[in-house]
Amino acid sequence: MGYRVAVVGATGAVGREILKTLAERDFPISDIVALASPRSVGREVSFGDRTLKVQNLETFDFTGWDVGLFSPGGSVSAKYAPIAAKAGCVVIDNTSHFRMEPGVPLVVPEVNPNALKGMKHNIIANPNCSTIQMVVALKPLHDLFGLKRVVVSTYQAVAGAGKDGMDELFAQTRGSFVNDPPKIEQFQKQIAFNCIPQIDRFMDDGATKEEWKMTVETKKILDPDIAVIATCVRVPVFIGHSESVIAEFEEPVDLAQARAALREADGVILRDEREDGGYVTPIECVGEDATYVSRLRIDPTVPHGLAFWCVSDNLRKGAALNAVQIAETMIALDLLPKHG
Ligand code: A2P
Repeated sequence: MGYRVAVVGATGAVGREILKTLAERDFPISDIVALASPRSVGREVSFGDRTLKVQNLETFDFTGWDVGLFSPGGSVSAKYAPIAAKAGCVVIDNTSHFRMEPGVPLVVPEVNPNALKGMKHNIIANPNCSTIQMVVALKPLHDLFGLKRVVVSTYQAVAGAGKDGMDELFAQTRGSFVNDPPKIEQFQKQIAFNCIPQIDRFMDDGATKEEWKMTVETKKILDPDIAVIATCVRVPVFIGHSESVIAEFEEPVDLAQARAALREADGVILRDEREDGGYVTPIECVGEDATYVSRLRIDPTVPHGLAFWCVSDNLRKGAALNAVQIAETMIALDLLPKHG
């Protein structure tokens, strides 16, 4: 017998990817329900070779459901995740709402699986997509050399802003060829043919909330002593986040050792050929599970520095896959009780 699984936000970019990932990975399911807003009730979404009729989150009773994979946006999760959790359903939430709460594990299974044992309120948080791929790549290097400081610049795809963000890039791109003035709704400026150095709102110190998330989440997942400064930029790429990561370590860095560790690391593929095209770009990682590391080199401007490029499918490892892997890890650690 499998688990009773609720997918919340099932009509969205991440929700659909969660359904796809559950089916592809043969997650042990005895019953599955797709939930979204009242607007979507009765619509159909694919799950493997089946279709599911979408039900209304607002009136859904989570009693008897084992696990809820949530991606309906922060304010909706804020309201409904505690309701589901109280009914005994373990919530794995993709939004940023609960991530920094004590008693809510913030987990990347390749990096800190044991944090799952600290779950207090039946809620587990999936980290920010940019944080996930960065910590997957940094973990083996941190284990070897002791990570001190990270300077990261991101090149983030519009899929991170959901299906409406993808539609806006598409509409503006198409519009430019037929002389339609760009309609700007999801982003602060035109995204087609442009780069926008703002993701999420501004904080008092001049950082954006996305940049703040990369700092505090890395500390919570990897080590509170690591200093992180991020610049997060939205780029006109549909799917797949890229990052330039510059890392400074406590110990002297050995490039060959770093390469070997990245080659061995779970969830990482090192593709670094030091020749034209010998690196991975976001379009090549769409639909893939791994975080790809390329352009690995010594940073000679600090005593123990490394620089690299990493890309990953933000809907997959950055969201859906990581959430499903959390559920799988909970099963492996015997932390996911079945009601049935
Ligand atoms: P709906 O399609 O009914 O609006 P994305 O991040 O790609 O925009 O997707 C957001 C997901 O969250 C969609 O599935 C959306 O459903 C769902 N959602 C948004 N608001 C609510 C709400 N108030 N209650 C339930 N689901 C919601």
